[in-house]
Amino acid sequence: MSRDIATPGLAHWTAVLAGTHGLTARLEPLDGEYDLNFRVLTSGTATHVLKVMRPGCDLGLVELQCAALAHLARTVPAVPLPRVVPALDGASVVTRDDPQGAPRLLWLITSLDGVAYGNFRPQGPALLGELGRRVGELDAGLADFAHPGLARNFKWDLSGAGWIRPYLDLIDEPRRRIVTRICDNFDARLAPALAGLPSVPIHNDINDYNILVARDAGGQPRISGLIDFGDMAAAPAVCEVAIAAAYAVLGQERPLDAIGHLVAGYHAVHPLSDDELALVWPLLLTRLAVSVVNAAMMQRERPDDAYVVISEAPAWRFLELAGEIAPEMALAQLRLACAKPALPAAPRILDWLAERRGSFAPVLDEDLSHAPMADLSIAAPVPRDPFALEADEAAALGGSVAEGEPARLGYYAEPRLIYTGAAFRNGPYGASDRRTVHLGIDIFAPAGRRVLAPLAGTVEAVADRAERFDYGGVAILRHETHAGDAFFTLYGHLNPDVVQRLTPGQGVAAGETFATLGAPHQNGGWAPHLHFQLALTTSGFGHDWPGVASPDEAGLWTAICPNPAALLNLPDQATRHKGPDFEALRAARGARFAANLKLSYNEPCLFLRGWRHYLFDAMGRPYLDAYNNVPHVGHAHPRIQAAATRQMAVLNTNTRYLHPAQTAFAEALTAKLPQRLSVCFFVNSGSEGNELALRLARAHTGGRDMVVPDHGYHGMTTGALDLSAYKFNGPGGGGAPGWVHLVEVADPYRGRYRGDRQAGAKYAAEVDTALAAIEARGGRLAGFIAETFPSVGGQIIPPPGYLAAVYEKIRAAGGVCIADEVQTGLGRLGRHYWGFEAQGAEPDIVVLGKPLGNGHPLGAVVTTAEIAASFANGMEFFSTFGGSTLACVIGREVLTIVDDEGLQANAEAVGDHLLAGLRSLQERHAVIGDVRGMGLFIGVEMVRDRETLAPATEAAGYIANRLREFRILIGTEGPHDNVLKIRPPLTFGRDDAEMLLDRLDRILGEDSCRAG
Ligand SMILES: Cc1ncc(COP(=O)(O)O)c(C=O)c1O
Repeated sequence: MSRDIATPGLAHWTAVLAGTHGLTARLEPLDGEYDLNFRVLTSGTATHVLKVMRPGCDLGLVELQCAALAHLARTVPAVPLPRVVPALDGASVVTRDDPQGAPRLLWLITSLDGVAYGNFRPQGPALLGELGRRVGELDAGLADFAHPGLARNFKWDLSGAGWIRPYLDLIDEPRRRIVTRICDNFDARLAPALAGLPSVPIHNDINDYNILVARDAGGQPRISGLIDFGDMAAAPAVCEVAIAAAYAVLGQERPLDAIGHLVAGYHAVHPLSDDELALVWPLLLTRLAVSVVNAAMMQRERPDDAYVVISEAPAWRFLELAGEIAPEMALAQLRLACAKPALPAAPRILDWLAERRGSFAPVLDEDLSHAPMADLSIAAPVPRDPFALEADEAAALGGSVAEGEPARLGYYAEPRLIYTGAAFRNGPYGASDRRTVHLGIDIFAPAGRRVLAPLAGTVEAVADRAERFDYGGVAILRHETHAGDAFFTLYGHLNPDVVQRLTPGQGVAAGETFATLGAPHQNGGWAPHLHFQLALTTSGFGHDWPGVASPDEAGLWTAICPNPAALLNLPDQATRHKGPDFEALRAARGARFAANLKLSYNEPCLFLRGWRHYLFDAMGRPYLDAYNNVPHVGHAHPRIQAAATRQMAVLNTNTRYLHPAQTAFAEALTAKLPQRLSVCFFVNSGSEGNELALRLARAHTGGRDMVVPDHGYHGMTTGALDLSAYKFNGPGGGGAPGWVHLVEVADPYRGRYRGDRQAGAKYAAEVDTALAAIEARGGRLAGFIAETFPSVGGQIIPPPGYLAAVYEKIRAAGGVCIADEVQTGLGRLGRHYWGFEAQGAEPDIVVLGKPLGNGHPLGAVVTTAEIAASFANGMEFFSTFGGSTLACVIGREVLTIVDDEGLQANAEAVGDHLLAGLRSLQERHAVIGDVRGMGLFIGVEMVRDRETLAPATEAAGYIANRLREFRILIGTEGPHDNVLKIRPPLTFGRDDAEMLLDRLDRILGEDSCRAG
């Protein structure tokens, strides 16, 4: 059909519509492959869609759609479907001539809100589940629909998909092989299976442009319409599911999860039998094969139409990828999603094993009922480096068990970080997914111990997998229940001589010794132990059993490889790992702590382990920490661990005694500061530091009043809080005390001197007003305090010259200048060790906190000898824990590590890279108003409008929460809470920046960000 015939003829059809339906409206053309579709706007609102069918269109086809929609309006009125609006004469379909004089069928339906699902992002689990439910309801509503037009013989009838075979040679190898295999499977298995299923009326084209999505009152995306019934047919209901699933998987990172949500939704309202469920995955592939073959045919007809190739690219991508997914695994996953056992035989086998618990031969010739358990979980400090298990750690795992000592057991389903090899990683980044969940039970016992068959079986496979950290000797036995259901047991880390002892097919009697435990040089390098695993099938993975599953696939793999405890005559409970109970912890926290102790994120995080700039949750999922600045040199730094352990073993006392660690730390710290700043006070926190700084300023000047930039934060103690506009002008705050005088934040983006080259001096001039106010109230200036780069104020980099000009004014008025370097100090800024250096200013007092102890509570105040002398007025200064031996050892180690590991230079290089990447995102995403930062102190300000700077607060919150779903931690900040705050540990690398940029780019393309 040529597009010329479909010339819209707006005026013509507008007049026709007025005549047929009595509607005075404005028409706008909509996309349509063959027919003309118009959006009908009455009084400016889209109320209807006018459908003008192609010349020669079969009336029966339109009547079929009208009848189906009328039927559904009665049977499932809650499903969002268009309604047919009859013409003035009562007919659903009328005939009118087009401008060329050709008769055309036309009909009118109501319009539904929403955007095409295909254009909506993210296509998340809730939406997929709802889609499945809606389609299930639709099919349930069509169950008793009958119409002669349903009996159609056309290319989109999936049960007749075999028609593609003669056209397969339109596709080049190697792709042809993919579709040929699908076609062979269709002919051999699917077509006969479909022939045995009842044909029922289905929509038959739930593709992602026939689904609409709109937000509900709570802002949640919902399925708001299922449209275009033009491909309706009678076919097995599973075809409906498979077609919807074929589109739903495209572009999904975890396609099986996506289909699982869809199919589970469908199954919940319109149950699928086991036989139907078994057809979903292969039919989905068949539908995509039909689609790509159809495209190849179109391409033959229209070789210059690039669109055909582009539109099929996602289907090809998926078909190429799907070759790696075993159909058996896909089916098992869909069955689990529908709350069915992964395999039909699973409950029978498990019951059979449970009934015989206690009667199996002892696998290691030892009663294990009192065996102690080893903790190899995420909470255990094994391995030291969660990215690199060392040989000595592997060889000592589970503690060595001497001959005569009871064996020690390793838990089933325990998440572990010991699997650090590339084979366990699923992605290129440090924080990429990894496999952690142990699928067997370990039995640690001396090498050489005999391994016995717990029950009779035959040898299925035997091998020596000699690679480091593999199994060494490994054997798989096949067993059968009395009902004839097969299952399998695996024995890993054997003496490799098992390869000589056993031959596949050979029988093994219950209690027969068939192997011995390998020593580390034989068993892959591990402490001698047996990895004992059960599998209810091997279809889909053969002899290549995963011993460890990814947390997100643990449900599937623990269903295929259940707890083998029964075969060891042990209870399931005692051998299954139990991690912390998330909900119980959340409830206990609510009960034990005040409500204003907040948790981050809509879905709070529970972390058990940290390493460098990564955190691990209880399942061992790695998170990229782009937020926490306290672990300045990285979480769980080994040198800090070592220094702290050594010091705690000998002495930890206070500053009332001499100790070399105190002076060593003070000297290391002052060496980093301007010479004038030579006297140190050690405290426990940033708050305590600022509190003390305030006292120093007052002692030195005799004044009381302070000048402070707005939106700042200096701590949670009474005096520090009084200096913190972020708090006293925030929720629950009581406003500024009389002695605190706020000046506007020197914010080059949002402040009043935006774009002004003199902005530094002009913001500084604000101090004059504050000084005048002090004088007016008869006060006396003590000083000025500012976060050198305001952080909670929105990660702001003040304009050049600002701080130096302010300091000059403050000093001229007799005050002292306090730099709160809690956020910015110690090399974070890359080019500068301190924030004040970047501003060309030199403070009189510097306050340090957060990063100084890398997580150990440690703050410091460093000042001049003169100010220190003013403070030393006779009253003793003492902070019990401040400056403890331990704190001093740790603080000094932090300073040394920053230098030794070149972290300041890393902050500069990675910060520049990240900022450049963020700026290129800004070019493509209008919601990014500003990208600013220095080193690894970065802010990304989100706006709804780049002119008005209207803050996109919701988008910022959405991004932080979505990044958390992608396992990346950032925060939001600023007076409008619309600034993304990025300030990771200084170990953050280029590939981490790449991961953050990649995920952020994806999220910025989602509807919540596009809407602003
Ligand atoms: C700039 C600044 N100063 C002081 C503090 C208070 O430090 P602490 O929480 O250690 O008392 C903070 C804490 O976030 C801060 O960001």
